[in-house]
Amino acid sequence: MDSQDLVHILLVSFPGQGHVNPLLRLGKILASTGLLVTFSAPESVGRFMRKANKHIDEVTPVGDGMIRFEFFDDGLGENDPRRADMNFYIPHLELHGKEAVTKIVKKHEKEGRPVSCLINNPYIPWISDVAHKLNIPNAVLWVLSCACFSAYYHYNYELAQFPTDSDPEIDVQLPSMPLLKHDEIPSFLHPQTPCPIIGKAILGQFKVLSKTFCVLVETFQELESDVIDYMSKFCLIKPIGPLFKNPISSNSSIQGSFFKADDCIDFLNSKDPASVVYVSFGSVIAFKQEQINEIAYGLLNSGVSFLWVLRPSQPGVPPLVLPENFLEKIGDKGKIVQWCSQKEVLEHPSVACYVTHCGWNSSLEAITSGVPMVAFPAWGDQVTNAKFVVDVFEVGVRLGRGDQTEINGVSRDRIEKCLKEVTGPKAVELKKSVLKWKKVAEEAVAEGGSSDRNLKDFVDKIRNVSK
Ligand code: UDX
Repeated sequence: MDSQDLVHILLVSFPGQGHVNPLLRLGKILASTGLLVTFSAPESVGRFMRKANKHIDEVTPVGDGMIRFEFFDDGLGENDPRRADMNFYIPHLELHGKEAVTKIVKKHEKEGRPVSCLINNPYIPWISDVAHKLNIPNAVLWVLSCACFSAYYHYNYELAQFPTDSDPEIDVQLPSMPLLKHDEIPSFLHPQTPCPIIGKAILGQFKVLSKTFCVLVETFQELESDVIDYMSKFCLIKPIGPLFKNPISSNSSIQGSFFKADDCIDFLNSKDPASVVYVSFGSVIAFKQEQINEIAYGLLNSGVSFLWVLRPSQPGVPPLVLPENFLEKIGDKGKIVQWCSQKEVLEHPSVACYVTHCGWNSSLEAITSGVPMVAFPAWGDQVTNAKFVVDVFEVGVRLGRGDQTEINGVSRDRIEKCLKEVTGPKAVELKKSVLKWKKVAEEAVAEGGSSDRNLKDFVDKIRNVSK
């Protein structure tokens, strides 16, 4: 079939790993249903993806449909450090992106492949304006939890009391949610957040919510049923996750990883079942040298086997170093890599638990792979996710809490005690609980499951509007 004959959907992603992963997974799934999907993002993402995918500039068949990629210039040179400065980059991207995405849409219209629906993820709410202006239906893929969606919604419409400058430590009670302490709400909503621009960008999506016909959420009905049901009174919420678990999204050959994965499967293969602690903090968090020292000694002193993803520092930032003779001391007990294929690691039988920052992708990936967590959040939604991971889903223990800016200083003794607990007395109970969620997640994405039905419904809607 010619791509020209297929209904065409344009997906636009913010250039973050935690944003690209779920949107690309959705793109592959949508394509497999017989749609033509164009995945678009700033060229910085294209540079990463070209390294991992030889045929990225060609149209790739996926199931009954096709996916193609189209990256746009964000107006900055390849190595411009200002991309890492959100105060600069978020408004800058809006300035360049609006015009670039409009051009892409118009070009396809001219070439006989009109775009029937524009889907974006958070931080780029201006896509909804572009869609509205061009008279194209718009949907959002909310890549955080529905609980966080509710927090931003209530804040935006002033439907609940949140901490203020004069009252920064009040608890927040949202409908159908457990009470959140002031440091358990998404930190960008806290008056003391050092990065209000991100909160503003996320809240921007709520200001244009009326221009969006559907909010697809990277969660599943059974995991967050109370809050999903409650928020469904206000907008069309469709939980369609975990996208990670959908066989189409994981089997396809197109990779969205920004970095090349180091090999660690041989290491995991050499270990006993459920004996390795996986330690990783996503793609954004930066550590201080003192924190690295504490984590290193915490791991060493606990005596557990571990796989630790330690990303290199950003250019211009002094490199992080491991304590003297650390590698000799750990011997074959531990392995340190710069990046891994997290899916493969979490699904490996040797992995006992996951010390995580609780980014929503990582939290869902762990839950749906049946891996208990040690919650060590820093900021943003991570602090809220940690609350749910520990107290609501009951699949983890808490190591420390974020303080709006970074992972709080946690001592090596605390890490050691926590790792011994989670691999010892607590292991059976946590595993039982997480395996329960894994099964429910598998059912949700299987044929006829809650997420599968929601996705099919969404695809039907798109087909109807494009008739
Ligand atoms: C960001 C925010 O920090 C997070 O709070 C929010 O929920 C999503 O956006 P990030 O910090 O990168 O994301 O964390 P996370 O959401 O967990 O996403 C990281 C992704 O990178 C995951 O899909 C994970 O599988 C992948 N990853 C991470 C790898 O593939 N290999 C690694 O070594 C580390």
